Amino acid sequence: METVKVSASKEYTVNIGTGFLSSIGEKLREIKNVCRVVLVSDDTVFALYGEKVKESLTNCGYSVCEYVFPHGEESKSFENYEKILNFCAENSITRTDLLVALGGGVTGDLTGFVASTYLRGVDFVQIPTTVLAMVDSSVGGKTAINLKSGKNLCGAFYQPIGVFADCETLNTLPEETFNEGCAEIIKYGMICDKDFLEFLQKNSIRDNIECVIKRCVEIKRDVVNRDEFENGERKLLNFGHTIGHAIEKCSNLSISHGNAVAIGMAIATKGAYETGVSEEDFSDVLLPILKKNNLPTTCDFSAEELYKASLKDKKRSFDTISIIVPDKLGLCKIVKLPVEELQNFIEKGLN
Ligand SMILES: NC(=O)c1ccc[n+]([C@@H]2O[C@H](COP(=O)([O-])OP(=O)(O)OC[C@H]3O[C@@H](n4cnc5c(N)ncnc54)[C@H](O)[C@@H]3O)[C@@H](O)[C@H]2O)c1
Repeated sequence: METVKVSASKEYTVNIGTGFLSSIGEKLREIKNVCRVVLVSDDTVFALYGEKVKESLTNCGYSVCEYVFPHGEESKSFENYEKILNFCAENSITRTDLLVALGGGVTGDLTGFVASTYLRGVDFVQIPTTVLAMVDSSVGGKTAINLKSGKNLCGAFYQPIGVFADCETLNTLPEETFNEGCAEIIKYGMICDKDFLEFLQKNSIRDNIECVIKRCVEIKRDVVNRDEFENGERKLLNFGHTIGHAIEKCSNLSISHGNAVAIGMAIATKGAYETGVSEEDFSDVLLPILKKNNLPTTCDFSAEELYKASLKDKKRSFDTISIIVPDKLGLCKIVKLPVEELQNFIEKGLN
């Protein structure tokens, strides 16, 4: 088992291994006394792994009740959030109890946000089961739900007390969902690790999944340790996300987060070069890695549509918007773009 220690406002360990889900109860006992557990999962993941996790927790003395919701981004809603809060209250969950998120980024974001607000904060643990959740959403404490106006507009910074990433769960992941997670992996190489980027050029992610996940978690850990509340450097992790969120919104969430981020990174890279924000065009490095991992690099939405959808982004201040662009190979920078220049930036990036 590989471990990565995070030292944010809460200290915790990210455990990365293969085939330990049936002994998750023992692992949990090392960080949390026996208590009541609300196991939160979507219907697909619960059907695959719910009983295994429940059995292990129960065998170790935990008293488990499960909240299972329909899979998909639509469930990261205010309505579902409220239902889980009520579920916790109806089951008399107290501050000494625990929420466990078993699933992808949707489950983790939703459960984390419930944990941050129920009784003003209860402990929660992440058991990520998608590539994206293992390398990104389960680490660093960003929790959120979507509002009708846009993605992740309601949330909190709230760290889990532990993360348990069992790579064996990735064997049941549809290939497309596996690939979507690769977008976030490639992002790490682009923003701050040239060696890792070169590794991804030459090697298969799937064949090296455990060490790839560990490297991504280390990179994210380092960024989060330095800037937990996204006052500066953490914004780098949003490479591809401002335009990516706009793509998700324009597609009514039919384009997945990972695919949207892949397209967003491609547009930001090309747009930065074509508008003179970056001196070099790194598209010839980025696009082949995206394509090798079966990720899209463009979309049919117009620059105007994407621009309008971007205006609700959290990275926007009154008249500027923060865009992350490549500066050197394996190094990104944060650029404040006047809002009125964003449409042209996207236009140039789409071409
Ligand atoms: N908090 C953060 O820092 C952060 C970072 C990046 C992304 N996100 C969020 O993460 C979400 C996307 O995460 P996601 O791609 O994991 O989506 P997801 O949770 O919807 O999972 C994708 C699909 O895979 C299925 N699935 C999950 N694990 C499986 C497994 N092991 N086997 C078979 N099927 C499985 C799910 O049922 C779902 O249908 C978005 O809402 C995004 O905003 C958050």
